[in-house]
Amino acid sequence: MDSDEALRVLITGGAGFIGHHLALYLQSLGHDVIIYDSLERASQYGIKRIMEAGIPLIKEDIGDKDSLKKAFNEFCVNRLVHAAAYINVAESMKNPELYFENNTVKSFTVFKSAAECGVKHAIYISSAAVYGEPRYLPIDEKHPTEPLSPYGLSKLLGEYMVKFVSRVHSMPVAVMRLFNVYGPGQTGTYAGVISKFIERVARGEPPIIFGDGKQTRDFIHVMDVCRAIKLALEAKAEGVFNVATGRSVSVKRLAEIIIREAGLNLSPVYAPRRPGDIKYSLADISRIKKALGFTPKISVEEGIKELIGKALGKEPGH
Ligand SMILES: NC(=O)c1ccc[n+]([C@@H]2O[C@H](COP(=O)([O-])OP(=O)(O)OC[C@H]3O[C@@H](n4cnc5c(N)ncnc54)[C@H](O)[C@@H]3O)[C@@H](O)[C@H]2O)c1
Repeated sequence: MDSDEALRVLITGGAGFIGHHLALYLQSLGHDVIIYDSLERASQYGIKRIMEAGIPLIKEDIGDKDSLKKAFNEFCVNRLVHAAAYINVAESMKNPELYFENNTVKSFTVFKSAAECGVKHAIYISSAAVYGEPRYLPIDEKHPTEPLSPYGLSKLLGEYMVKFVSRVHSMPVAVMRLFNVYGPGQTGTYAGVISKFIERVARGEPPIIFGDGKQTRDFIHVMDVCRAIKLALEAKAEGVFNVATGRSVSVKRLAEIIIREAGLNLSPVYAPRRPGDIKYSLADISRIKKALGFTPKISVEEGIKELIGKALGKEPGH
């Protein structure tokens, strides 16, 4: 980071699950943060927390070039984190065009507007969904990209869009491919498996496992994701980075941990495997470790313990 330059970061999707945690985290480190979000799919939890923290919020769509440029100029923004996207895989299967428009075409608009307004570095929040069915494990950044859903494809095409803008406008860009993110405030129909299991267990209901439960995922706590993004911002990192823990856990094991932590006597319920679900996922995080010194700090057991505490009212929510 240039020592005399304060970070003035605009976060698109900053009222969503990951974006609002990032906004609060960067603010707590003394950086200036502006949120740009249509609120169309924001969580009440996120909105409440950013309001309480007094973070400026621009309620506009990322497809609106004029509003974007006004925001970049008025707030003298010098950094961008683009996290706004639609994230529902099933919805993307039914309406792919919506996803290509919102996640791909509008990403181009965001990055081009940023470059034209003199933003000095930008981060595109991408997804492990760009890889598709793993050809080998652990998945490094050179792994083939063959997404299985329009959502994954929309994120991959977004990567091409922002890399193009980066080249043409000489604006350095980091692409951060997030694996399975979990943490407080992840709600709604497309919440991750951890939140879904906890919601059920908190109601005294058993978790529902699709398939045999032996499928594995690389789960990363949202605060570790925030730390990774902060390191990339401060280093003005360029290139593609996996953001994960480099450890995987099976869905069956997750259910066991959650039931144990809740102190309940429940057994998971098994349902048929969902078509399109990949069997194993695990990231190779050597690149982000080496380039940015990133190491995840929160184990899945610790993360779950915290969430169970909140869900069962054992701890104050944050
Ligand atoms: N949650 C995960 O496990 C995960 C994993 C990999 C990648 N990601 C990526 O991380 C990013 C954030 O995901 P999230 O889980 O916080 O999702 P989220 O749905 O909680 O947040 C997305 C936010 O973007 C906003 N948004 C969407 N389209 C918009 C538009 N056209 N204009 C303005 N605002 C718009 C929504 O209102 C919402 O507040 C996404 O880019 C997603 O692809 C998430």
